[in-house]
Formats: sequence, C-alpha cells, structure tokens
Amino acid sequence: MKIVTTAAGMQRLARGWQGQGMKVGFVPTMGYLHAGHISLVERARRLVGRAGVVVVSIYVNPTQFAPHEDLAKYPRDFKRDSALCRAAGVDVIFAPPDPEMYPGRATGDYSTYVVEETLAQGMEGAARPTHFRGVTTVVAKLFHLVLPTVAVFGAKDWQQAAVVQRMVRDLNFPLRLVVAPTHREADGLAMSSRNKYLSAEERPQATILWRAMQRAKAAVREAENGAVAAAALKQELAALIATQPAARLDYVEFFDPATLRPVAEVRRGAQLALAVFVGRTRLIDNGRV
Ligand code: PAF
Repeated sequence: MKIVTTAAGMQRLARGWQGQGMKVGFVPTMGYLHAGHISLVERARRLVGRAGVVVVSIYVNPTQFAPHEDLAKYPRDFKRDSALCRAAGVDVIFAPPDPEMYPGRATGDYSTYVVEETLAQGMEGAARPTHFRGVTTVVAKLFHLVLPTVAVFGAKDWQQAAVVQRMVRDLNFPLRLVVAPTHREADGLAMSSRNKYLSAEERPQATILWRAMQRAKAAVREAENGAVAAAALKQELAALIATQPAARLDYVEFFDPATLRPVAEVRRGAQLALAVFVGRTRLIDNGRV
C-alpha cells in the first residue's frame, strides 16, 4: 500500500493507471475510519476487480466546516486508518496536507469553488449554508487528482451523494458514482466518525434517529389510504425525539428522492432525512419510508 501526500504525485500516479487502461475505484473520506467506510472500500474493490486499483483519500476538508463547527476537534487517527486500509486491501491512501489541496488559502489567496445550486439548497444546505460548496469543491479536486473510473459514496450522507451525482452529470466528470447502503450498529445507530463524541448517557439516546425513521415507516404503512400529511408526521417525530433529554431536533424533512423537493403527503417511496443534536453532537440519518 502506497501513501501519497502531494497533489502532483497523486495525479502522476493516476495518469499512469489511466495510460495502462486500469480501472480505479475511489472512496473519499475524512478519516477516522469505521466499518461503514470499509464496506465502501470493499464495494470499490468488487467494482474494479483484482486487476484494478482502490484509492482511499483521507482529508478533513476545512472548506466544508463553518467557523463554529468541529473542524479542529474532528477525530483523526492516521495510524489506525492506514492499518485498516492495509487490512482491507487498499492500494493507495491519498492524504494531502491543506496547502496541497488549497494552495494559497492560508494567506487568503485561494479563490475557486464549485457550487451546485439546486439540490444543495434545503436540509443540510439550509442548516449549514457553506457546507456543500466545500464538499463539491473538494470532491471535484479529488476527482481531478485520482481520476477514478468509479467513486463510492455512503448513503448516510444522502443529500451529499445527490449533490455530487448532479455535479458529476453537470460538469461531465468521466466516472460512475455508486451509492452504498448505510452501515448500522446493532441498535440501528448509523455508523459515523462523530459517534465517538457521544457520552455514555448520550449513546443510547442517539438511537432516537433510527426509532423516528421506524415510526415514520409504520405511520405510512398503517395509514388507511397509504398517505400521511407531512406536517402532522413531522410533529409526531419531533415529539418522539423530544422524549430523549439529550436530543434536540435540527430538522426533519420528507422529500421526493429524485428532486429532493419536500412533499406535503408522505407515501411509500418518499425519502426521510433528519438531523438531531444529541448533546453537542450533530447526527444525521435518512431512509426510504
Ligand atoms: O463524506 C465525507 O466524508 C466528506 O464529505 C467527503 C465526501 C470526503 C468530502 O470531504
């Protein structure tokens, strides 16, 4: 397994693979890897085969964090991450320092960003206004450096995957994007590097996101005509979440998975997304109703 830390070095390697017609599977991450990430690596391997190359990027991207967010304390453990990658059969880790990804940014001299203007508006985009600009910018840059044939994203960040998919289409990136299912703990909590922040009292309460999603599914299943008013169901889920002393709802939304537009009537096939603070930790989850 190679560890590459420069943008030029990564691109040189990728151009070599491209010249040889090799398939490249790519899993972008911010590190602090868990079983969910490893399942994305395994998916990438299956997609490119043994003859292909699997690249994992480990980079905590500063431009997707707002100034008040958790950039400085975002968990990092490169030694552990690289051991996990090696064990999972990763060929290359790309782990650039900030100046490689954002030349000049430290002195205010970086000025190019990629912005998706529609799907990035609601939910995470409304709660974290500069977040997706940072994500699309860094992912576009990573795609230019790694030159993947296929990139694998996790479904936990469902809106992120939709926004990146739109960017790939709109900007003609020559790659296929695959969205792999969310990995969960036995009690339903979606795996996330941020789960590490939860205290012993908060951890059991964090399953409220999963329980809220199950409640929404049951409500639609039980509804006489198969539809429930979104406003009423949102209220019900908000009340359920409020039963947990450490939990504070940020948003809950029901939307059309194709357009990401909110729906007034929730039927089977609608997508549900929610963001909940558990203590000071902000967790997100989503699923098909
Ligand atoms: O999902 C993540 O970990 C990040 O948003 C990504 C895609 C690696 C971009 O920084």
